Amino acid sequence: MQNPKKKVTLHLLYAVSTAVIGSLQFGYNTGVINAPEQKLRTFFHNVSLERYGEPFSSSTNTVVWSFAVAIFSVGGMIGSFSVGAMVNKFGRRKSMLLSNVLALLGGGLMGFSSLAQSFEMVIVGRLVIGVFCGLCTGLTPMYLGEISPTALRGAFGTLHQLGVVIGILVAQIFGLEVLLGSDALWPVLLALTILPAVLQSIMLPFCPESPRYLLIVLNQEEEAQKALVRLRGCEDVSDDIQEMKEEAMKMAMEKKVTIPELFRSRVYRQPIIIAIILQLSQQLSGINAVFYYSTSIFETAGVSQPIYATIGAGVVNTVFTVVSLFLVERAGRRTLHLIGLGGMAICALIMTISLALQEANPSLNYLAIIAVFGFVASFEMGPGPIPWFIVAELFSQGPRPAAMTISGFSNWAANFLVGQGFPKLQELCGAYVFLIFMVLLILFFIFTFLLVPETKGRTFDDIAQGFAATTEKPNPSSLPEAVVVNVPDTKEPPPMSP
Ligand code: GLC
Repeated sequence: MQNPKKKVTLHLLYAVSTAVIGSLQFGYNTGVINAPEQKLRTFFHNVSLERYGEPFSSSTNTVVWSFAVAIFSVGGMIGSFSVGAMVNKFGRRKSMLLSNVLALLGGGLMGFSSLAQSFEMVIVGRLVIGVFCGLCTGLTPMYLGEISPTALRGAFGTLHQLGVVIGILVAQIFGLEVLLGSDALWPVLLALTILPAVLQSIMLPFCPESPRYLLIVLNQEEEAQKALVRLRGCEDVSDDIQEMKEEAMKMAMEKKVTIPELFRSRVYRQPIIIAIILQLSQQLSGINAVFYYSTSIFETAGVSQPIYATIGAGVVNTVFTVVSLFLVERAGRRTLHLIGLGGMAICALIMTISLALQEANPSLNYLAIIAVFGFVASFEMGPGPIPWFIVAELFSQGPRPAAMTISGFSNWAANFLVGQGFPKLQELCGAYVFLIFMVLLILFFIFTFLLVPETKGRTFDDIAQGFAATTEKPNPSSLPEAVVVNVPDTKEPPPMSP
């Protein structure tokens, strides 16, 4: 195991801050569409009136609106699916730089939509921004994981989620009618994503490329060493180089790993299933039912100013991500994920009971609000931050891009499902809708308890070895040679039946 070094240098901090702008972008664009809903609906109404001589019917208006919301996650699926190909071709840093072109394009389209009297520009803009955010959710955690010292990888990985939640909070606040959520300014609210994109593009050229990418993928040892010296702030980076070289040696036998190979190879099958289920546990926990529809949930609970309760949820969200940031290198990923899932399940139950009995007993409103806050707080303890960065930890350099692609795609697909499905489920189940999430949360809890390993403080190679060791007696011809060499003859694998 690597000697844990915890030195945070200015260069490392600079590179991390630059990358985290991508996380902020994802959060901002997730949260931004909530507040100006009525303004956008009015805009669609006015455009159709002017263009066709009559306004859209209320149902057509709803279709256009839902489309503008949903297409963001479709873009996210496309973007996350492109991550692997992009990083293999351009590297980590240049990929982040290139992705910003999409932010300028998407932000520009939405920003000028009102001037051009075109609702289509809002929809295409949301699609482009979705692709951009899909890229961000792969590129940022990958870069953070690869530049961080082993002992700080969890804390730095959690910074991605901190960026996301701050982005959501900023969007909620800017979306207030008195700020940018007004009739005149909503296009500015949507176009604001351009500013961080410009800032990141200016900052990126001064960041080092990921040393793991330089050494393991490009075989440029000298360049990797230079990058490491800058990041670690000391001349002697031989430990890091040695660890990467060992990984590189093993990788040399594997070449690039494609997506189908991830599922075919026994060595990767278990970690990829874990990675996918962890992403599903994040999204199917129901968190975005709260973030997309909190206003209507709080209305049902009888809150008179639901927008402020929504902002309250955003604040709780941010505070608990910070708590997780400090705990993740002490308590470990597995424990925090379990605590988070368990806490969410309990809060979902309390939320359901208080919403169901609220008509008979209005004072239960408060309990419902507290339960929503508890739900969000528990989410940020584990299920929020951990799935994003643990995928980079579960795989070594060869399969990592393909694994990030598949898990990112699963995350966005589940996000889409909840975003689209929740209003209908709510219609069907009323106050009991969160019981569905409660059941799913319990299942994810059991899965995590049985199958997710602790990755805290372990090198990438060590984690990969752990999976190789628990894998069924391998058939040498179907496995990368380097892994076979290291497979001790141990127990049978735990059953995998997600
Ligand atoms: C995670 C999820 C995202 C959600 C956010 C809430 O980053 O991926 O979908 O909106 O957490 O904090």
